[in-house]
Amino acid sequence: MTDLNEYIKSVADDVSKRLEALLSENMDSVVTSAMKYSAQGGGKRIRPLLTVEFSKACGGNYEAAVDFGCAVEMIHTYSLIHDDLPCMDNDDMRRGKPSCHIAFGEDNALLAGDALLTEAFCVLSCVRSVSEKNIVKAVSFLSSFAGINGMVGGQVLDLQFEDVKPTVEEITKMYSLKTCALIKAAAVLGCLTSENCTQREIEAACNYGENLGIAFQIVDDILDIVGDEKILGKPVGSDDKNDKSTVVKYLGIEKSKEYVKELTAKAVNSLKDISGDTAVLEQIALLLADRTY
Ligand code: IPE
Ligand code: IPE
Ligand code: MG
Ligand code: MG
Ligand code: MG
Repeated sequence: MTDLNEYIKSVADDVSKRLEALLSENMDSVVTSAMKYSAQGGGKRIRPLLTVEFSKACGGNYEAAVDFGCAVEMIHTYSLIHDDLPCMDNDDMRRGKPSCHIAFGEDNALLAGDALLTEAFCVLSCVRSVSEKNIVKAVSFLSSFAGINGMVGGQVLDLQFEDVKPTVEEITKMYSLKTCALIKAAAVLGCLTSENCTQREIEAACNYGENLGIAFQIVDDILDIVGDEKILGKPVGSDDKNDKSTVVKYLGIEKSKEYVKELTAKAVNSLKDISGDTAVLEQIALLLADRTY
């Protein structure tokens, strides 16, 4: 294992431990168990890792970045729980185990998603080492990137685009909302753990998240065709089953891979506007372009 992989794993472990601790503060209930069940397991923790790295590059505090990252991961986990429901993608496996609604029932899965979404903002508002001004900015960014003008809006388009033929531009717009929005929020929240971050750095984080996010979703769509279910921890062939509109469906796998390379280069290029060390952020973009899960 390389030093970089070891480093990424150590941040992911810190995030997983903190998530477990934060979720354990809630009342004992079947829905709390469902929240923990879905939050733990095979998640890659990419979004909290970005929060930690943007925080480091902007001179922020590590513990605050882990907590901000946990808030984004809670919202991401809720989005996955709801995405798997029978009324959405109807998928039975997630993060290497039965999806939340298979393990806990649709009623508890719905509520676990609701509770994770709400809890995320409680976590953000409780971070003490960041100024109230930046906490308010973080709440504002995360709520707008997660809601109808962000991730939820993208999921609306994703459902509307089943069984129809949108253009590649329209599909890219859908990716920008359903996938890039939370990735951008993760990056921007990292910047906001530093009291000295600049508008230019926040814009750079958004550009990085936008390009990385589109590439990330295209790789997800490629893996939905050629991936190994055991490694992925979720079903392959889900997009075909639901007649989803994907970039890969239009461009084919080879052209899509070229597009991923172009987007990755753009993501890396946007890091030039960040004042601190961005070597790890560059490596993460390259690793994600070649991922197998
Ligand atoms: C899956 O996200 C949903 C997409 C936006 C493609 P991840 O691939 O980050 O899922 P986990 O967190 O590792 O399970
Ligand atoms: C999901 O896209 C994006 C979300 C906002 C959850 P997908 O539906 O392709 O994600 P997977 O493949 O189920 O993880
Ligand atoms: Mg989906
Ligand atoms: Mg899905
Ligand atoms: Mg997918």
